[in-house]
Amino acid sequence: MTRTPARGAAQLLRDTGQTLPHIPPSAHPTPPPSRGERINRPWAPRRGRSRPGHGWSPVAAPMTVYQATTSEIGGLFPLLAANGIPAVGARIGYDTLSGSAFYAHPVDWVLRGLTTNPNLVVFGEPGRGKSSTVVAFLLRMMLFGTKTLISGDVKGEYSPLLRALGISPIALGRGLSTRLNALDLGPIATRWDSWSAQRQRDELDALLARWVKLLVALAEAQGYAPTVTDEAVLAQVLRRLLGTTDGASRLRPVTIPDVQRELADPDEQLWRETRFADRRQFLDTLRPITDALANLITGPLSGLFDEPTNFDLDWQAPIQSMDLSRLRGRGDQAVAVALTCLGSWSSMITDLQDDGEIRIVVRDEVWRQMRLGSKAVQAVDSDLRLSRAEQKIQILVGHKPSDFLSVGSAGSQEVAIAKDLLALCSTRILFGQSTRVADELAGDFALSTKESEVTTGWCMERTGRALWKLENSPGYKVQTVLSRVEQNAFDTNAHLRGNGGETR
Ligand SMILES: Nc1ncnc2c1ncn2[C@@H]1O[C@H](COP(=O)(O)OP(=O)(O)O)[C@@H](O)[C@H]1O
Ligand SMILES: [Mg+2]
Repeated sequence: MTRTPARGAAQLLRDTGQTLPHIPPSAHPTPPPSRGERINRPWAPRRGRSRPGHGWSPVAAPMTVYQATTSEIGGLFPLLAANGIPAVGARIGYDTLSGSAFYAHPVDWVLRGLTTNPNLVVFGEPGRGKSSTVVAFLLRMMLFGTKTLISGDVKGEYSPLLRALGISPIALGRGLSTRLNALDLGPIATRWDSWSAQRQRDELDALLARWVKLLVALAEAQGYAPTVTDEAVLAQVLRRLLGTTDGASRLRPVTIPDVQRELADPDEQLWRETRFADRRQFLDTLRPITDALANLITGPLSGLFDEPTNFDLDWQAPIQSMDLSRLRGRGDQAVAVALTCLGSWSSMITDLQDDGEIRIVVRDEVWRQMRLGSKAVQAVDSDLRLSRAEQKIQILVGHKPSDFLSVGSAGSQEVAIAKDLLALCSTRILFGQSTRVADELAGDFALSTKESEVTTGWCMERTGRALWKLENSPGYKVQTVLSRVEQNAFDTNAHLRGNGGETR
């Protein structure tokens, strides 16, 4: 097929019986366009002029300025209203309806009454750009000092991003010599010396309560529900091990084997302090919790959580992540324990954080955590409910709503809690879906027929397209725009290209 050459503007006008207006040579600021050159050129490059004060933008700007005659332009809508979302927070991309930039700041949305909570849920088929949009959001929120925790990175996708930012992610498992002490002091260790004696006492009480809670959760992960007596004894053992009962001002590191040893072989002082008649009674009463802790030291979890932490954990970093990709071989229990420890530190950081500090917590591939059982679901549930009070933006990323139901059998209490999780996320970001899943989404999120069609049609046409629904507002059709740096730092297809991607 032969292609007819494109008509120039002058030819176009001549064909419609008109001529280009004649401008005297003296009025020409620039030489007239040479033959074949387009006259309706953009006035500014897509990203603005790369000079200070000229509005350069790292991503291609959605607005482009064109010049053309009115006889060429069929229609112009200069006063098209932008979406009602304020230009505050992370600039994600553009709203395709108005062409204006689209910004996301879930905490600001709550303050303006657009939503009732700052939580986001992201759904879409694999490869549609969910994780990339989350990354764009958290990187751009970093400019406002917001810190992020990737709470369980199943595929290890976020690790290259962290390394690009000069941060080592928390990674455990196959081929790694890293050890993570479940009873790590976490963010407290670096601050301890700067506190007054009174503050140290207060923080110590909070720390003991947290550790007891953590040990209880770890025992529950093995199928044993600890009693109040177990908890009281654990608190006493931890206090002795930390060295605070004998007046030491420095905290001694404590590991799970230390606790287990004290329980399995108590000295007279311990069983008397905890009001047992004799050593035998102590051992018999505490046998189940002692054995539950022993399981963390031997068996598939051995060598992961039972030794002092041997790598530098930076709690001040703008982003921290728990890479679970190498734990897969150790089974669900190892993942559950790792996430329980992380959850415990995360709440420790929250307690220590200054007012006004916002944090983002990302749970990508959320089905993985739902599968871990009722404790994991309850942890997500309480995090979502507390997000407003704790100034956290909780982000759940999954394929479809029924991912949440892998927690248990239909009609069980866990499934009921899991179903409610959706209602606890005011903002829903819906990427491309197949028609089958779209029906499920339409039901769960009360989508209109038009909105449902957007998720199965428009969103499927390009990666990074999503329907953003803030509470019950009409959905916004938003295209995420990634910068080249972001694309290189977070390329989840790297392993498919075989260039040494770190995800496998
Ligand atoms: N907005 C976008 N523009 C261009 N490429 C994108 C965009 N979003 C995602 N991609 C590319 O698509 C691939 C899959 O994206 P990813 O975020 O991992 O999808 P998901 O999390 O939905 O499985 C990545 O290689 C990423 O670089
Ligand atoms: Mg993903």
